[in-house]
Amino acid sequence: MSTLHAFDPFAPDSLAHVGGAADGAALVQGDYGYAVLDFELATAVLRDTRFINAALTLMEQFGITDGPVHDFRAKSVIMAEGSQHMRLRTPLARFMGPSTVEDIRTVLREIIADIDPADGTRGPLDFHAAVDQKIPARVYCYLAGAPAEDAPRVASLSARTLALLQRDPSLKDSILEAYDELFAYLGELIASKRSAGLGDDMLSFLIRQEDAGKLTSEELLSEATAMLEASSVNTAHQTGLVVWTLLRDRAAWSRLIEDQSLIPAAVVEACRLYPRPGIVSKIASVDIELAGTTIPAGSDVHVAVWSANRDPKRFDDPSTFDLDREASQPLTFSTGLHGCLGQSLAKVEMEEVVRYLIENHPNAVVVDEGTEIGHGGGRWLVGSLAVDLDPAPSSS
Ligand code: HEM
Repeated sequence: MSTLHAFDPFAPDSLAHVGGAADGAALVQGDYGYAVLDFELATAVLRDTRFINAALTLMEQFGITDGPVHDFRAKSVIMAEGSQHMRLRTPLARFMGPSTVEDIRTVLREIIADIDPADGTRGPLDFHAAVDQKIPARVYCYLAGAPAEDAPRVASLSARTLALLQRDPSLKDSILEAYDELFAYLGELIASKRSAGLGDDMLSFLIRQEDAGKLTSEELLSEATAMLEASSVNTAHQTGLVVWTLLRDRAAWSRLIEDQSLIPAAVVEACRLYPRPGIVSKIASVDIELAGTTIPAGSDVHVAVWSANRDPKRFDDPSTFDLDREASQPLTFSTGLHGCLGQSLAKVEMEEVVRYLIENHPNAVVVDEGTEIGHGGGRWLVGSLAVDLDPAPSSS
């Protein structure tokens, strides 16, 4: 029998735990498998390539054990290791580097202006539906060289495919349908780009890689699929969490208005406190010694990012939003060779939403009624975010 401390990081009341080790235990256990709570051990697990992504196993647990969707996942960038991983990651990374995504800021400002959330309406609006959910899919369309009109479809496909991470087997059929639709959509987009002539966009680049024999046609579709599913839904929720956090901390918000150079730090700090992927799940590919315990091959090891990001050994006063933290590198985007490829892009997207609010609606406030933010399945979720962009001045 295991002597490990029992703790369930997925439990609805788990966030009552302050973060870091539970009763001194960095590694805990429960029906779900093992969980890692503290920052240092979490970082070590995420950087250890013997722990592989759990997404394929999750599919198999749903009964998706063969067919095109299983095939896609088994061969996708998140499951690949070693030189095959680098071969698949490198062509995508070309479009995701920090300096490349800087160029997207201008495009983002145009997209936000085009979305125009204010739209002359007065009173609270659902900022999550009006802005957060629209921007990442528009950015994917821009990157992939797809028509902007495709954005609602892209957003829906990303949300429906990554619903896998809700760990709800009753969603199996809708997930399979969403992947079929996604493959068909990208297949048509690739064909139409070939016939219309290739451009400078990411999808055209991948198509040229296939033409040059550097990617197979299956890999081309897999790369485009991996980017589409990852591009939208997480960024939408994380943007909502960032806006919700910043607008409620009026002292921090005033500092941002005074000094916009603080926006990147503010985004990172909000992502630390409220990480959309609160748990990053891995599988031990071999027996692995961890904090004095042998984790048998095939075990589920869940890295509790929400806990590691509030580890008092790493972050002073961890539950406080602090714009002045130095060298704050929370694990919201994971770390190591499989760390989020789109993190620079996602951060730029969130920064530009914050900048939009500062420049156009500095008095914006979150309205509790109509705001639904919570967590479930180890993830922070935004249901709706009621924001009054231009509240009437108070008479008191
Ligand atoms: C705020 C938004 C986002 C969050 C919180 C997030 C978080 C993550 C996390 C936790 C992982 C898993 C890393 C691991 O298994 O260790 C990941 C992987 C990945 N993300 Fe993101 N992500 C976001 C946005 C994006 C965007 C915008 C893109 C692309 C446009 C993207 C592309 C990817 C890819 C391709 C991988 C797989 C990388 C690999 O296995 O080598 N992500 N992301």
